Amino acid sequence: MSQGADILLGLQWGDEGKGKIVDVLTRKYDVVARFQGGPNAGHTLEFNGIKHVLHTIPSGIFHENALNIIGNGVVMDPIIFCKEIDKLLDMEPKCLDRLVISRKAHLILPTHRMLDAASEAAKGKNKIGSTLKGIGPTYMDKTGRNGLRIGDCELPDFMTRYEALKKKHLELLGDFEAPFDFTEAEAQWMKAVDRLRAMQLADTDVLIQETYKSGKKILAEGAQGTLLDVDFGTYPFVTSSTTTAAGACTGLGLAPNRIGEVIGIFKAYCTRVGSGPFPTELDNDLGQAIRDKGHEYGSTTGRPRRTGWLDLPALRYAVEVNGVTQLMMMKADVLSGLKELEVCTAYEYRGETITHLPYSLEEDLITPIYTTLSGWDEDLTGVTDVKNLPTSLEAYTRFIEQETGVPVVLISVGPDREQTLWRA
Ligand code: GDP
Ligand code: IMO
Ligand code: MG
Repeated sequence: MSQGADILLGLQWGDEGKGKIVDVLTRKYDVVARFQGGPNAGHTLEFNGIKHVLHTIPSGIFHENALNIIGNGVVMDPIIFCKEIDKLLDMEPKCLDRLVISRKAHLILPTHRMLDAASEAAKGKNKIGSTLKGIGPTYMDKTGRNGLRIGDCELPDFMTRYEALKKKHLELLGDFEAPFDFTEAEAQWMKAVDRLRAMQLADTDVLIQETYKSGKKILAEGAQGTLLDVDFGTYPFVTSSTTTAAGACTGLGLAPNRIGEVIGIFKAYCTRVGSGPFPTELDNDLGQAIRDKGHEYGSTTGRPRRTGWLDLPALRYAVEVNGVTQLMMMKADVLSGLKELEVCTAYEYRGETITHLPYSLEEDLITPIYTTLSGWDEDLTGVTDVKNLPTSLEAYTRFIEQETGVPVVLISVGPDREQTLWRA
């Protein structure tokens, strides 16, 4: 942990286990702040035998002493957000006291969701596999300078602004059939906005800067993963935000020279949900076995996640793009029982052997080259001391450290808070 602000983010295609680790780390921080994405995210954390899935709310919310901020880089669907709040209120009746929302965050309208569905339908077999939460169209309106922001709901002409944007969307949609009852969705949305207006809305960029200057510790929580970044991911099969470390600066109003540690999370293997290239994919029985053992089904959509071996050129790329200073390896327990583990260390790309991530990861251009390492048989889920982990897992971890040049400081061996082993 550094003096000021640290970032925690995913290094693969999302679902690395960010929610669990943010929850584990929160007791060391005063503020936890989400900086991008929206309800496309599903961050799971477990403690005392209960599992929680958060979509918009930062994963530090279960800790009484931490302030949770939804930053300006986030896009928010008031309906989904209020449902999340309602679920949370049962368990954490005071959660709204420690939750602050940026006025500069953008609102997802019901028509954004319709535009998302229309865009995917138009792409046919080339669809992105979007979560259909309206993420892409909302960020398009943001950069197109048409968006509606949370702070607008405090202005007297909010309804005029809403109607103007809705009209624009409906014109774009033409005869496209709404995938849900629009009148009902709109009424729900308005009700949710009314509730939102009564919550703690703030200029969170200023709040973050003041927090930093007062010597408090900030943890910036990423959503999605580096390979879904709009610039550095497997474009166009990406999300519409900057999921990499730079996104924490623009999504919170945090200057780059205030960032300390960049904590990168990865699974001991790879998963991807939605379309797009995945060089090390195991589209076979072994892939299915990993999916079953790792419960690899989307936290937001329930879709089966594609599974595959660890991809080191991709991981090294993610380490560089983000300036990762600490690695955390998740779901090591899922690989127990495999005699041998393949790890991709290079690619055959257009007749050449390369160790970097090339421009295109399309299947017909790229073939992964694997190194085989020994697996382990032991069930890891009850291990409480890193010294008791199998030697072949230690060798697997050291291999990753050598290949990336970054220490693996933590190994996760189960979904619960407690199933977390520190190596450093
Ligand atoms: P996030 O989006 O990065 O927060 O990750 P998700 O919550 O979407 O997916 C991670 C899934 O793996 C969740 O169901 C977690 O409860 C679970 N999980 C996290 N860490 C571990 C681990 O070390 N072992 C196992 N078996 N499950 C884990
Ligand atoms: P967390 O934060 C995994 C994927 C979708 C799709 C693509 C674009 O839980 O790790 P979008 O709805 O953003 O337009 O979808 O990105 N995707 C995720 N995959 N984890 C996520 O979030 C994701 N958020 C979006 O499946 O392929
Ligand atoms: Mg997730």
